[in-house]
Amino acid sequence: MKALQFSAYGPADVLEVADVPEPHPGPGQIRVAVRASGITPADWYTRSGRFRDMIPLRLPHVLGVDAAGVVDEVGAGVFDVRPGDAVFGLVDLAKHGGATAEYAVLAHWAPKPDALSWEQAGGAAGNVETATRVLDRLKVGPGMTLLIEGAAGGAGTVAIQLAVARGATVIGTAGARNHEFVTGLGATPTTYGPGLAERVTALAPGGVDAVLDFAGSGSLPDLVNLAGSPDRVVTIADMGAEKYGVHLSRSAGPGADPTATHGLAEAAALAEQGRFTVPLAATFTIEEGRAAHELSETGHARGKIVFTF
Ligand SMILES: NC(=O)c1ccc[n+]([C@@H]2O[C@H](COP(=O)([O-])OP(=O)(O)OC[C@H]3O[C@@H](n4cnc5c(N)ncnc54)[C@H](OP(=O)(O)O)[C@@H]3O)[C@@H](O)[C@H]2O)c1
Repeated sequence: MKALQFSAYGPADVLEVADVPEPHPGPGQIRVAVRASGITPADWYTRSGRFRDMIPLRLPHVLGVDAAGVVDEVGAGVFDVRPGDAVFGLVDLAKHGGATAEYAVLAHWAPKPDALSWEQAGGAAGNVETATRVLDRLKVGPGMTLLIEGAAGGAGTVAIQLAVARGATVIGTAGARNHEFVTGLGATPTTYGPGLAERVTALAPGGVDAVLDFAGSGSLPDLVNLAGSPDRVVTIADMGAEKYGVHLSRSAGPGADPTATHGLAEAAALAEQGRFTVPLAATFTIEEGRAAHELSETGHARGKIVFTF
């Protein structure tokens, strides 16, 4: 089968489309014929070698953690899907990849809602489980005010909608060109950078109850002040979080949090009710892997970048 892989760490031009052996599902897993798979910044961090000490890989390595597709093989002990079913889901995160290929083995899945296109569903699962995991940790619920730093990207756009669905009021930071976009997802936008504390206080005079940092831009001291305590802040992106007493939530590698496996079915149900969507920044074929990674590396994608098959 065709897969997007890299054989040596480096810039985007180390990516190659290769013929690789097809994977098969183990117990409790399924295989899908992939229709779309997501791109996350972790793909290019991995490709660049940034994670090589933390997560040693045997190269060549096939990238990608989430996908949507049609089930074509079912592992032992799986009774909730059959070949031919449309699903979206995540690979076994301990394997750190494998979704950007014609066939992928999934460890967590839910039926693909009709309300999401293949592209939207293919880019959904990783961010849905990440957002669910951190919203659960902060116990985000009705009546709370949540600040999301870095609201316009793949993770932020999903977290806004899932927090609003839980009854929270959301303030999301984004560049000025993305304010209308963030408003459309249900959050009140404001600009990140100097003066953030004053702008957020003007929008939420009573203070914010919880903060998610999806930017990792060094703003944690300000975010902790706004939340009033480091245990009301969770980051998924700031490797220096410990210094501020803030929890860094990861889905893979040493110290990873458990995957919030209820997130997929809940997001699918919200999508069917018209309360959840996956805004797409751009779609690419795997032959365009370099352009896809270079767009992600700008750090300013609006929504999710997805590969289609
Ligand atoms: N730990 C985990 O489990 C986990 C899971 C998923 C993602 N992550 C990490 O979370 C981060 C976000 O992921 P993503 O998929 O959402 O990335 P993304 O799709 O590339 O989005 C990046 C977003 O960040 C915004 N941004 C850029 N500079 C900013 C700043 N200084 N302050 C606030 N926002 C800023 C951009 O908005 P503008 O264009 O408006 O500037 C853009 O929309 C990445 O570091 C990723 O590796 C971690």
